[in-house]
Amino acid sequence: MLIFSLDTMKPSRGKLPLSIIAIVICVSAFIGVLYTEDVGSLSSTSIINLKSCSKQDPLANSRESAEDNKTEDDLDDLEADEKTEFDPRRCSIYKGKWVFNSSAKPLYSDRTCPYLDKQVSCVKNGRPDSDYRHWEWQPDDCTLPRFDPTVALEKLRGKRLMFVGDSLQRGQWQSFVCLVESHIPEGRKSMRRGRSHSIFKAKEYNATIEFYWAPFLVESNSDLHIIADPKDRILRVDSVFKHAKNWIGVDILVFNTYVWWMSGLRIKSLWGSFANGEEGFEELDAPIAYRLGLKTWANWVDSSVDPNKTRVFFTTMSPTHMRSKDWHHEEGIRCYNETKPVMKKGYWGSGSDRWMMGVVTSVVERMKVPVSFINITQISEYRIDGHTSVYTEYQGKILTDEQKADPRRYADCIHWCLPGVPDTWNQLFYAYL
Ligand SMILES: *[C@@H]1O[C@H](CO)[C@@H](O)[C@H](O)[C@H]1NC(C)=O
Ligand SMILES: *[C@@H]1O[C@H](CO)[C@@H](O)[C@H](O)[C@H]1NC(C)=O
Ligand SMILES: *[C@@H]1O[C@H](CO)[C@@H](O)[C@H](O)[C@H]1NC(C)=O
Ligand SMILES: *[C@@H]1O[C@H](CO)[C@@H](O)[C@H](O)[C@H]1NC(C)=O
Ligand SMILES: *[C@@H]1O[C@H](CO)[C@@H](O)[C@H](O)[C@H]1NC(C)=O
Ligand SMILES: *[C@@H]1O[C@H](CO)[C@@H](O)[C@H](O)[C@H]1NC(C)=O
Repeated sequence: MLIFSLDTMKPSRGKLPLSIIAIVICVSAFIGVLYTEDVGSLSSTSIINLKSCSKQDPLANSRESAEDNKTEDDLDDLEADEKTEFDPRRCSIYKGKWVFNSSAKPLYSDRTCPYLDKQVSCVKNGRPDSDYRHWEWQPDDCTLPRFDPTVALEKLRGKRLMFVGDSLQRGQWQSFVCLVESHIPEGRKSMRRGRSHSIFKAKEYNATIEFYWAPFLVESNSDLHIIADPKDRILRVDSVFKHAKNWIGVDILVFNTYVWWMSGLRIKSLWGSFANGEEGFEELDAPIAYRLGLKTWANWVDSSVDPNKTRVFFTTMSPTHMRSKDWHHEEGIRCYNETKPVMKKGYWGSGSDRWMMGVVTSVVERMKVPVSFINITQISEYRIDGHTSVYTEYQGKILTDEQKADPRRYADCIHWCLPGVPDTWNQLFYAYL
C-alpha cells in the first residue's frame, strides 16, 4: 500500500498554467461531444512518451559489440547500411522534418489489413486526399531505419509485446500489427479481440502483439463502462493492480496515458482504503492527480518488473489539433480539411501540454527500472493533416454525408488515420527495439 503525504497532494489552486486550462477546455469541449454520443470511439484518447535516445538505449552497447564480431557476410546489405547510418545515442531522432515522398508507400492499407477499427480506417470511410500517407520523418542528423517487418518479427521471437493505455495507444498497436501481419502467412496468425485485452499471435515466431485497455493506467470507475460525463468519473490514483496483474510476464511493455486526464480541470480522486466508498474522493487539479497516478504506475513497475527480462517504453502525449488558430488558419475548423503538415520548425500548438510532459519526465527520472520514451509529441504536432477528422465513426457507424458536412460537431482531431502518423511512431519504436 502506498502512503501519500497529504502535503504533496494538496492541490495548488490558482497555480495551473493557462496553457493547461486552454487545452483542457479545448479537449473537453470536444470529448464532451464524443463521450455523450460515442462512447466507443472516445476510448481513443491517450498520451505518448518515448525516452530520449541519449538517455537510455539499453541496446546500444550490446548492438555495438555484437557488430564488432560480425563479418561482412553476416549483415545483409540493407541492414549494414542502416546500422552504419543510425546510432540512437548520437542522433536526436525527434529533431527533424517531414519530407514529402510520393514514392514512399505505407506497408499496408485499410483494405489489406483486416485488423483496423472503423474509427481509424480513413480511406474506407471516404477520405479523398492521399498526401498524408506519403510524408516521411527525416531526422536532421541521421537516417531513421525503415520499418522492416521481418526484422521486427525476428526481434519479437518468443516474446510478448504489449501496448497498454488508451485509444491512441490502441491505434499504435493496430499500426504495429498491420505493419507486420502481411509477412505472416494465412493460418499462421490469429487475432482475439477482447473488451480490455486483445491478442495478435504470430505462430511461427511464438510471438504476441497485445493491447490492454487502461486509459488512465490506474483504476477508475470509467475503464470498461465509460462514463460520458468527466465529472462523474472517479479515479483510484493509488491503485493499479487490477490492470497491472495482466502485464506480468510481458517482455516488452509500451505504456501511454494523457488525453483522458485532460477532460476537466479537476479530477475526482480516491486513495487509501476505500472505507468511505466512492464518497471519499477529493478533487485534485489534473496535473496533481496525473502525478499521483503515474507514481502509482511507476511504483508497480519498479517493484514488479525485472529490468533484465522486461523492457519498458512510454509513448509521450499525442497532440490534439483543436485550434486552427494555433497554425494561423483563422477560418479553419480544428483539423478539418487540413491536407499538409505545419512546416514551421519547432511548431508547438496548444494541444500538448509541456507541464504534463514534465510530470511524466520527473516521475520516470526517479524510477529504478529504465523506461525509454517514444517521444512522438513534437513530430506529431506538425501533422495537423493526419487526424481522422470526419472520416471516422460515430456511435459505431461511419459518419453519414450529413454528419460529414458538419465538421464543427463531428471532426475528430484527436485520433489518427491508419495507415498514417502512428506508423512513424512505430518506426521510432522499431529503432529502439
Ligand atoms: C566478440 O569476440 C570476442 C573475442 O572473440 C569475445 O571475447 C567477445 O565476447 C565477443 N563479443 C560478443 C558480443 O559476442
Ligand atoms: C522515397 O521513397 C522511396 C521508396 O520507399 C525510397 O526508395 C526513396 O529513397 C525515398 N526518397 C527519399 C528522398 O527519401
Ligand atoms: C513461447 O513464448 C513463451 C513466452 O512468450 C515462452 O514461455 C514459451 O516457452 C515459448 N515457446 C516456445 C516453444 O518457444
Ligand atoms: C540483472 O543482471 C545484472 C547483471 O547480470 C545483475 O547484477 C542484477 O542483479 C540483475 N537484476 C535483477 C533485478 O535481477
Ligand atoms: C473542405 O474541402 C473541400 C474540398 O476541397 C471544399 O469543397 C470545402 O469547401 C472545404 N470546406 C471548408 C469548410 O473549408
Ligand atoms: C519530448 O520531446 C520534446 C521536444 O521534442 C521535449 O521538449 C520533451 O521534453 C521530450 N519529452 C520527454 C518525456 O522526453
